Amino acid sequence: MAPTILVVGATGNTGRSVVETLPKLIKDSKTLSQHRILALTRSKDSPAAQKLAAIPNVELAEQNWIEITAEWLRKHEVQRVFIASHNEPTHFAEEGQFLNEALRAGLQYVVRISTTNANVVADFPAYYPRSHWAIEQMLEQPEYKAMQWTSLQPNVFFAFVLGQAAELIKQYRKTGKQGSLGLLLDADAPVGVIDAWDVGILAAHLLARDDTSAYNGKRLVMNGPEDLSGRQIVEMVEKEIGVKVEDVKFRDVSFIHQWADSLTKGSKNVIRSIEHAAVTGWEGKCSASTTSKEVLELCPPQGTAKKALEQMLEQ
Ligand SMILES: NC(=O)c1ccc[n+]([C@@H]2O[C@H](COP(=O)([O-])OP(=O)(O)OC[C@H]3O[C@@H](n4cnc5c(N)ncnc54)[C@H](OP(=O)(O)O)[C@@H]3O)[C@@H](O)[C@H]2O)c1
Repeated sequence: MAPTILVVGATGNTGRSVVETLPKLIKDSKTLSQHRILALTRSKDSPAAQKLAAIPNVELAEQNWIEITAEWLRKHEVQRVFIASHNEPTHFAEEGQFLNEALRAGLQYVVRISTTNANVVADFPAYYPRSHWAIEQMLEQPEYKAMQWTSLQPNVFFAFVLGQAAELIKQYRKTGKQGSLGLLLDADAPVGVIDAWDVGILAAHLLARDDTSAYNGKRLVMNGPEDLSGRQIVEMVEKEIGVKVEDVKFRDVSFIHQWADSLTKGSKNVIRSIEHAAVTGWEGKCSASTTSKEVLELCPPQGTAKKALEQMLEQ
């Protein structure tokens, strides 16, 4: 076995580009060229896992990360890790446990995915940014000093803000009918929506550094290269379908209410709290201008709304 860089959440929005980018970056590294890249999935048969399996110099393992122990990490000689955790109500318990196991296994460096910077505060009304806040607080304590970490705080991903628009375009092309367009964004407030692929690329650049100490303990704010508003999304849709959008609702969080109402176990109140996550964006606190200078120096995000919509329409 060789010293290992572990990718947790490898098949997901951000993990896929970590796995694609990392092998090329460590190939000529002084300290990491002999490291193994181990990508995790709960199912090797899924289409996303199959794609990862085809990437040279990447090993794929079937392992649910929430069950990983310090012993497992030692046995697999893990030295560095990327983790994109789910943000379900058990997030703090499960990512917190994983990071504690990592500390006890003597891991050197962790790059983790947090969430939109303006939301990562102690009294945020939605539960999951508070749970990201708590993880960052935990890592910041002196007891965790032996393990270096960087927390990436990306803005909302394109899939969340353009998904409805792509669906309307596809439906209109098929049937000539529109339906109503519910958009998460405010009509006018600028939001630095980001391509999740760019987040993984930055994570890979951090993980591939010989010396990670310059980024230790940092929270890096990540936005796309340009701002997007609800009204701009409507214009993009109209350009695609060639007619006016008939019925649009901005600041639409009705899907969260439907989701909470449909729950048969767990707290509906906790899930309903997610409706608050978009409010800082509506208030203009999440524009592209908030990107950290380290992100712009290292690996400026490239993905635009136009490109993201084109990709969604191809699927
Ligand atoms: N979505 C956004 O707009 C947004 C914006 C900013 C920040 N974030 C943050 O991004 C983080 C997630 O990153 P991501 O979107 O890259 O990940 P993701 O795509 O949601 O998930 C990554 C992978 O984790 C595995 N997974 C999912 N649920 C799991 C569970 N309950 N237990 C164990 N494994 C599970 C799945 O892989 P397998 O099925 O292959 O095992 C999945 O492909 C969250 O913490 C979120 O707060 C999201």
